Amino acid sequence: MQLQGKHIVLGITGSIAAYKAALLCRLLRTAGAEVQVVMTPLSKEFITPLTMATLSRRPILVEFFDPENGAWNSHVSLGEWADLLLIAPATANTLAKMAGGVADNLLLTTYLSARCPVAVAPAMDLDMYAHPATQQNLQTLRERGVRIVEPAEGELASGLTGKGRMAEPDAILRFTEELLAASEKKKSLNGRRFLVTAGATIEAIDPVRFISNHSTGKMGYAIAEELAARGADVTLVSGRTVLPVPEGVRRVEVLSAEEMYRASVEAFGGADGAVMCAAVADYTPDRVSECKIRKGDGELLLRLRRTRDIAAELGAVKGGRILVGFALETHDEEAHAEEKLARKHFDFVVLNSLRDPGAGFRGDTNKVTFIDARGHEALPLLPKSEVAARIADRIERLLAAE
Ligand code: C5P
Repeated sequence: MQLQGKHIVLGITGSIAAYKAALLCRLLRTAGAEVQVVMTPLSKEFITPLTMATLSRRPILVEFFDPENGAWNSHVSLGEWADLLLIAPATANTLAKMAGGVADNLLLTTYLSARCPVAVAPAMDLDMYAHPATQQNLQTLRERGVRIVEPAEGELASGLTGKGRMAEPDAILRFTEELLAASEKKKSLNGRRFLVTAGATIEAIDPVRFISNHSTGKMGYAIAEELAARGADVTLVSGRTVLPVPEGVRRVEVLSAEEMYRASVEAFGGADGAVMCAAVADYTPDRVSECKIRKGDGELLLRLRRTRDIAAELGAVKGGRILVGFALETHDEEAHAEEKLARKHFDFVVLNSLRDPGAGFRGDTNKVTFIDARGHEALPLLPKSEVAARIADRIERLLAAE
C-alpha cells in the first residue's frame, strides 16, 4: 500500500484514452490512495461520471458549482487537499491551456491553485504530439516543475502508429508511487525558496559574435536538482547550456550578465537564500554593433565595460538570508576565495581550482574546498551530484542555526 492515505486529484480530459483512467483510478485506490476525480466537460463524452464516481467512491466534479443547489466546488480547497494532481489523460488542448494559464474549467483552476506536485500523462495523435506547439507547451510545463509521464509508441485511436499513446495505467501508477516517495524524502527543505544561478553568460559583440566562457552549468544544475529533491522551491537562473531542466525546478533562461542580474534580483526577492554558481562575464562590450563587424586589415579594438557583480549586489541586501558563492581560481586560490567571502557577504565559498585534475569545467566531477569564517574544509574528488549534496547539507546546517 505504497499510496496509503495519499490524496490524489485525478484530472480527466477529453481523449479516447479516458477509458484507461477508470483502471488507473482503481489501481490508485487499491494502492491505498483517496481519489477525487475532476473531469473536463468534454471528457464526459468519453467516460461517464457514473463510472468514475463508482470507482473513486466520491462524486466527481466538473463544474465550478452544482447547478442543482448552487454549492460551490472550491478549486482552492481541492488544491490544498491534494498531495498530487495527476491529469491522465492530458490532451493537447489542456496542456496548452495549462501552459498559457487559461482558467476556463474546474480542472484548470485547480491546476492553477495547486501547491502540490503536478503530473500529466499526455495522450494524443502522433502529429499533435510532435507538433512544435505541443512540444513547446510541454517544455514550458516541465520548466515550471510539472512532471510528464512520457507517452508510449504504439497504435493510436486514429489507426496510425507512433508516439502519443497515453502511458499504461500500471506505468502511471509506478510513476505516481515514485513521485510521492521522492516528495516524502523532501522534508528537509520543504517550504524553503532558493535561487541558483548557473552556466555561462553571453555578451554580444555584434549580431554574430559574443564573449563567453567554458562553463557548462553542470555544477549549478546539480545543486538546483539537489535542493529541489530536498523539497525546496528552486528558481534556476541559467545562462546558455544544453542541460535539461532538473525535475521540479523552475528555470529562467537568460543570455547576458545584465539579464541574469535582473532575473536573479527578482528571484532573490522572496527567497531564503541563493547559490551563485554562474560564470558571469565581468566585462561586456561597451556597445553592441547593430551590423556584423566587417574585417579590415588592421587591428580591431573592443572597448569593454564592467558588468554588475550579481553576487555582491545580493550580498549587500541579503540580511539574514543565506548566500553561497563559488570561486574558480588559477592561482593564490585560498586568498582570493577569502577575499570574496568577505566582500560579497557569502556565508561560505565553494572554491575550485583549475589546477586540480577532475575539477572545474565540463566534467562530471569536482574537487572543492569550503571556505567560511571558521576555516577551510577540503573535500576529495567527488561526482558533482555529491558535491551538490554536501553544499545542501551545509545550507541545512545554516538554516538550522538561524
Ligand atoms: O569575483 P568572481 O567572479 O571570481 O566571483 C565568483 C562568484 O561571484 C561566483 O559565485 C559567481 O557566480 C559570482 N558572480 C556574480 N556576478 C558577477 C561575477 C561573479 O554573481 N558579475
